[in-house]
Amino acid sequence: MTIQRTFSIVKPDAVKRNLIGAIYNRIEKAGFKIVAAKMLHLTEEQAQGFYAEHQEKPFFGELVAFMTSGPVMVQVLEGEQAVERYRELMGKTNPEDAACGTIRADYALSLRHNSIHGADSPESAAREIAYFFAEDELCARD
Ligand code: PPS
Repeated sequence: MTIQRTFSIVKPDAVKRNLIGAIYNRIEKAGFKIVAAKMLHLTEEQAQGFYAEHQEKPFFGELVAFMTSGPVMVQVLEGEQAVERYRELMGKTNPEDAACGTIRADYALSLRHNSIHGADSPESAAREIAYFFAEDELCARD
């Protein structure tokens, strides 16, 4: 059994529609423990830095504009094979391709307004967690 941590964002479209609780419920029901969480309104600089690997993509400006359009919830999740299992729980990036019962299939509005982010590898998870949280903000859970 490999217990891992992953990084998650409830994006502005979902926060605006009061879906934080519904999404946290999905996360907890799937067996993840939330070990850190906070609400933030990202600055342009924070969003650009977070998504730096996509800076050459044609959608970069729209992605940054969306992610700074309102508050987000950022959280660290812990669980068995957390990175891969959380990606499965989220569903594909485009909600039109997301499997039934996934968070994006049920809540995302479009490819851009897709309600949730999850790290795509253990290395990304470590980088993304450290981008938003200090080590002493992560709580040990039984
Ligand atoms: S790629 O090109 O495969 O690396 O990109 P992808 O992993 O599909 O998406 C990376 C993040 O960019 C968001 N995205 C978009 N935002 C706005 N407009 C468009 N057209 C668009 N296409 C992709 C996508 O939601 C991903 O965000 P995160 O937060 O990582 O889920």
